[in-house]
Amino acid sequence: MDTGPADFPVAERAARVLDSAPVGRRYHRLLLDAPDLSARSRPGQFFHLLCRDAGGQGPYLRRPMSIWRCGPDQPLGFLFHVKGRGTAALAALRAGDRLSMVGPLGQGFVLAPDWRRILILARGVGLATLAPLTEAAAARGIAVRAVLSAQDPADLMQAEFAGASGAAITAVFDSDGGSAVPAVEALLRQDVAQARPDAVFTCGSNRLFMLLQRLAAEQGIPGQIALEQQMGCGLGMCFCCVRQVRGEDGTVQNLRVCTEGPVFDLQAALAW
Ligand SMILES: Cc1cc2nc3c(=O)[nH]c(=O)nc-3n(C[C@H](O)[C@H](O)[C@H](O)COP(=O)(O)OP(=O)(O)OC[C@H]3O[C@@H](n4cnc5c(N)ncnc54)[C@H](O)[C@@H]3O)c2cc1C
Ligand code: FES
Repeated sequence: MDTGPADFPVAERAARVLDSAPVGRRYHRLLLDAPDLSARSRPGQFFHLLCRDAGGQGPYLRRPMSIWRCGPDQPLGFLFHVKGRGTAALAALRAGDRLSMVGPLGQGFVLAPDWRRILILARGVGLATLAPLTEAAAARGIAVRAVLSAQDPADLMQAEFAGASGAAITAVFDSDGGSAVPAVEALLRQDVAQARPDAVFTCGSNRLFMLLQRLAAEQGIPGQIALEQQMGCGLGMCFCCVRQVRGEDGTVQNLRVCTEGPVFDLQAALAW
């Protein structure tokens, strides 16, 4: 059977950078001119980015990056921690430069039509992955409560998380001990008792994931987690991104974060 570009939903695209700016001490944001990709992207999905600066310097392998901003008539956005060679090359891009992207890829978050309240628990740059979920939820009239954990107030990125969603946010910090697991557990228990969420979501911290998984199981609340893993192809072919996930029958399976994930059922995911 003949297949044309319209039959293949994911293609490489060189998108124009609209805006490139540092955020806080360690992070950077990029906004791109790719209206059709932005309209097709779903919270929790990611793009595989070729991280080359304007001089063509950068690593050979693409780097996976969650969609931070997306939607009809919105630039496509990424928010990232400048960590190594790839993200440094991304941060060196300027307005007018072009960025080669493949995506949107992977399975995003799911919002059930009858949910009215959700609770988000995010740590560090994990909030970039969860940010578009707040806007998708707000658009459906779902109230969002979020607990954001960061090293200190300068590291928080609250505005980058909430956008225009109106999410009610409580921030906890390492610098004052508020982000310690017992303190976060007390906060979450209080929150659940006051306004039981229909579902919970998390990304960015193993210890907070384990806490949320335990609480959600105890309370019978469904949940989802976005997992990370270093990637090769990003397209399901190389199996370099497998993580162990519990199947419905209780057996442990090796699933590809790029294809079966990055979003998994909270109770199926295993701690790392
Ligand atoms: C689906 C997905 C979505 C992601 N979304 C975001 C995002 O929105 N914002 C963001 O800041 N980061 C995100 N990441 C992580 C991001 O891909 C890595 O930080 C990036 O690839 C690092 O590239 P680098 O060349 O700068 O650093 P490298 O030199 O490749 O790595 C620097 C250090 O980070 C470690 N590292 C690299 N990649 C990962 C990874 N995937 N998981 C854990 N450790 C890693 C390396 O082992 C090394 O110690 C995401 C990862 C995945 C899999
Ligand atoms: S990165 Fe190649 S299969 Fe996932």
